[in-house]
Amino acid sequence: MNENAFFQKPRGTRDILPANQPYWRFFQSTAEKVLDGLGFSKIDTPLFEDKRIFERGVGASTDIVEKEIYLLESTADDEDPQFALRPEGTAGVARSYIENGMNSWPQPVRLYYFGPMFRRERPQRGRYREHRQVGLEIIGDASAESDYLAIMAGYEILKKVGLADLTVALNSIGCSECRPKYLKRLKAYYADHLDKVCEDCRRRFDTNPLRLLDCKNDQCIKIKAKAPQILDKLCIECRDHFQETLEYLDDFGIKFNLDPTLVRGLDYYTRTVFEISASTDKERKVALCGGGRYDDLISILGGQKTPAVGWGMGADRVVEELKNTGIKPAKSRSVEVVILELGATAKKVCKRIFNAFEKEDINVFYIPSKDSLRGQLKMAAKLNADYAIIVGQKEALSDSVIVRDLRSSTQEDLPVKKAVEMIKAKYDKEAFDDGTSC
Ligand code: HAM
Repeated sequence: MNENAFFQKPRGTRDILPANQPYWRFFQSTAEKVLDGLGFSKIDTPLFEDKRIFERGVGASTDIVEKEIYLLESTADDEDPQFALRPEGTAGVARSYIENGMNSWPQPVRLYYFGPMFRRERPQRGRYREHRQVGLEIIGDASAESDYLAIMAGYEILKKVGLADLTVALNSIGCSECRPKYLKRLKAYYADHLDKVCEDCRRRFDTNPLRLLDCKNDQCIKIKAKAPQILDKLCIECRDHFQETLEYLDDFGIKFNLDPTLVRGLDYYTRTVFEISASTDKERKVALCGGGRYDDLISILGGQKTPAVGWGMGADRVVEELKNTGIKPAKSRSVEVVILELGATAKKVCKRIFNAFEKEDINVFYIPSKDSLRGQLKMAAKLNADYAIIVGQKEALSDSVIVRDLRSSTQEDLPVKKAVEMIKAKYDKEAFDDGTSC
């Protein structure tokens, strides 16, 4: 380099200048508020880890590990393993879960993090060598409720920063029982087409056949269109789990598209995988949020078999989307109403009650939970909600709810319709008193 030339930032990295800081603060504080409220606790793990956790966890034959990982130079100290800058957050959190004995904490353990990740990608729009993620992990629960909670949390954050027009793409990639059988069929199909697919796909055929479905090459897209689909080959347990996840999303008004080619670029996934994108991004080139279930990762890294689900959300991409859409950083709207269900009969009517509040543009949350009323009220308090709508068996059978004012700790029984009217009238009056109604 010429002695007098300026130094430049490394390729694929960015300076976040003061003018852009309000966007970042707005995004991070909104995400943290939603996640704190939903009962997640923040965790920080090191920016570098033993590279083997990424090789074993993310997968040695994935692009992220094979081509994009930044290795740190080994030190003279022989006791040190080789370290790598973290390309993603899940493997480090799983390592921390095992190392800190979190399996003895109340399960599931709900964690989130915010920080930089490093991948030696080819820099382009939405793809940086240093990017920042908010990530969420729910560890220790196999139920579809956790898949729903994870997706709902990601969706809520994006909605709360103002990105209303979102697409959720969803698939199930099965488990260690049904996936190998599917992969056999997939390979049998591709064996007859190997001369027509790209070089990368020929390599994937041997190293990571599921990733054949992820190829964006025009010729390969044609071959892929006729490939056997994994959703048709799931075992009964995986099919039921996926069906239940879809029902939750449906019930709570989160629109989704099934995408049989969505397989994601990390090897640890089992069952549900998903991506949330801005609807304007038709080709799913830059997902804002991506994740899935990873029931085998903890045991792969040396812990007990522990089911888990989570996602990572690209903060750089969200901030760019906010700017492109003309959304200005604003104070996030507070949670107004939380619906708490007690028992199976209540569960059946909660969706209708949720819809009734949402229709009136009341900011409402519903989190399926098996916790006691006390536990759920604590969660509602953390969310800083104004009202808890409590639905037990008696209320479910009489089309009524208990409306608990969480500010004054008073409560009353009301028919559902009256409860919605009463709360709506309160917010309308506050808006009027504020002078913000017109
Ligand atoms: P991922 O899909 O690799 O998943 O990354 C998550 C999100 O980070 C992506 O949807 C995208 O918004 C953003 N992102 C990824 N790479 C880049 C990049 N080079 N430049 C800008 N943004 C990027 C994971 O990392 C998993 N750990 C997610 C997860 C958590 N799965 C389960 N738990």
